Amino acid sequence: MDTPSGHVPVMMAEVLESLKPAPGEVMLDGTAGGGGHAAAIRERLRPGGRLILLDRDRESLERLMARFGREGDVRYFHANFRDFDQALTEAGEDQIDGALLDVGLSSLQLAEPERGFSFDQPGPLDMRFDRSQTLTAETIVNRWPEERLAATFREYGDQPMAGRIARVIVEARRREPICRTDVLAQIVMRALPAAFRRREKIHPATRVFQAIRIAVNDELKSLDTFFDKIFDHLKPGGRVVVIAFHSGEDRIVKTRMREAASQGRVRLPFTKPMTPTPEEIEANPRSRSARLRVAQVLPSAG
Ligand SMILES: C[S@@+](CC[C@H](N)C(=O)[O-])C[C@H]1O[C@@H](n2cnc3c(N)ncnc32)[C@H](O)[C@@H]1O
Repeated sequence: MDTPSGHVPVMMAEVLESLKPAPGEVMLDGTAGGGGHAAAIRERLRPGGRLILLDRDRESLERLMARFGREGDVRYFHANFRDFDQALTEAGEDQIDGALLDVGLSSLQLAEPERGFSFDQPGPLDMRFDRSQTLTAETIVNRWPEERLAATFREYGDQPMAGRIARVIVEARRREPICRTDVLAQIVMRALPAAFRRREKIHPATRVFQAIRIAVNDELKSLDTFFDKIFDHLKPGGRVVVIAFHSGEDRIVKTRMREAASQGRVRLPFTKPMTPTPEEIEANPRSRSARLRVAQVLPSAG
């Protein structure tokens, strides 16, 4: 299923099945993006429901406003989902029935070369979800010490050749600053031995670009802070659904949900994450690494 925005929402059936939006309920979509999930959730909240949409990307949010309009059932916030509680207060809500996060970047952002997310389209090294933020990929690539770069590639990119890539980047930037996505992609390519490149199923720059994007946007911290607060804002029986695309993110989701379950606050309908069907992966290869986890606040909690 494609959306008018060009972003194909992942695991749509599984999201609806676990979030269970129903008429009159109040829900939060903390990563509204192209609005694919949001549109389906909104339909199911009618009549009487309310949907609160957040995105750090102002352009995405403006497109959503144009698409969904200014009807009273949808509220929009240009905000990080880690600050969702402030958005709820502003929207006059406190306790909600459900929250969805579909973390990472949208195909829309990937398709715009000037956003700098894509290694196969020449563009500036930017990668900020929120363009009012000062830290960019260019700063990280040109200023961070070699050890910090290596740790970033290892932790956020699961990159086995992290040290070697960091060393080659530092050598290259001594000659001239690295300012373009295609230049960085070539440097990474050259840093890797031919045998390693042949073995890898994905482009050698994929993991490095993912790692830099996670660092630019401080993505893991946002997820952790979200979990510090979300269970306090869900009604008894309320659901939280998170789709993660990276092992580090999924680890946080798993740990924080299990922790809440061990405190008797939530139940976890599934111990293992849900994954896309082979049909979905074939139709939308971007979905291949998606992991969906659900927690439901116990009726007696709170
Ligand atoms: C994978 S897309 C979401 C797609 C959406 N579910 C749909 O159906 O179109 C992720 C979106 O989350 C936004 N985002 C990423 N991290 C965020 C954060 N910490 N707070 C708010 N938005 C964030 C990105 O700007 C992007 O638009």
